[in-house]
Amino acid sequence: MSALFPSDWLADAPYEDRDLGVLKAGKESEVYLVSRTGPTRSCLMAEKRFKPRLQRAFRNDYLYIGVAGEGARRENRAIRKRTRFGQQAIEARWVAHEWDTLVRLHDVGVAVPPPVEKLDHGYRMAFVGDGQQAAPRLSDVDLDLETARHAWRELQGEVRRMLDVDVVHGDLSAFNVLWWHERPVIIDFSQAVDAVVHPAARDLLRRDVERTAGYFRRQGVAIDLDAALALVGDSPARFAHQVLSS
Ligand SMILES: Nc1ncnc2c1ncn2[C@@H]1O[C@H](COP(=O)(O)OP(=O)(O)OP(=O)(O)O)[C@@H](O)[C@H]1O
Ligand SMILES: [Mg+2]
Repeated sequence: MSALFPSDWLADAPYEDRDLGVLKAGKESEVYLVSRTGPTRSCLMAEKRFKPRLQRAFRNDYLYIGVAGEGARRENRAIRKRTRFGQQAIEARWVAHEWDTLVRLHDVGVAVPPPVEKLDHGYRMAFVGDGQQAAPRLSDVDLDLETARHAWRELQGEVRRMLDVDVVHGDLSAFNVLWWHERPVIIDFSQAVDAVVHPAARDLLRRDVERTAGYFRRQGVAIDLDAALALVGDSPARFAHQVLSS
């Protein structure tokens, strides 16, 4: 499959960045359009900024996992006590978690917006759209049957590629997939979990596949859920070590 973006899509230094305003304002984050102009070309980036004082930060306890050392223990204590320092620490972890996931998936060729840079309260990635018009979310488009079948196959391939590097999206649905140049582009990794250590990873994978299948069913695609799950790499053996999982 060809790359979504040419390798030289990003404008070189020395560059000037310009904020072009809010693309999407959500409950927990805002996405801004930012242009970057370098010596030979300019490009558009999407900047996702998390709103401060995230209540949702306490939803994903597994951000604790894999963070060790005395500094982290101090942070963990502060997080549990919900102090301001703890709040800052978990926000930083949250951003790092989403950013690291995006970078990892991009590195292995999953169809995601190419990452640009992490910021204190968010990160930048390629703007997926044409001109300044953002690509629609899959939930906002209707596909003809042939296109829908093809897109469903591609999306299952993406989920499989994610699982191959032990990532389960965790919030996958037609709302977190952009439809661009006849291809699905996956976004929003805030709920992503590690397929090896997260006890609910298998359930989340199932939910991801079910929700996206729901959209494609509405587009007329006949879907065998068990076959789809097998195709994305789900199997009892894959998650056999997860005694807590259902
Ligand atoms: N790279 C991008 N290019 C174009 N549009 C984007 C891009 N990233 C996000 N968007 C737009 O911004 C919207 C919100 O982004 P996203 O889904 O990441 O945030 P969110 O739903 O607020 O996530 P969270 O659950 O983390 O708060 C998307 O539905 C999409 O319309
Ligand atoms: Mg979203």
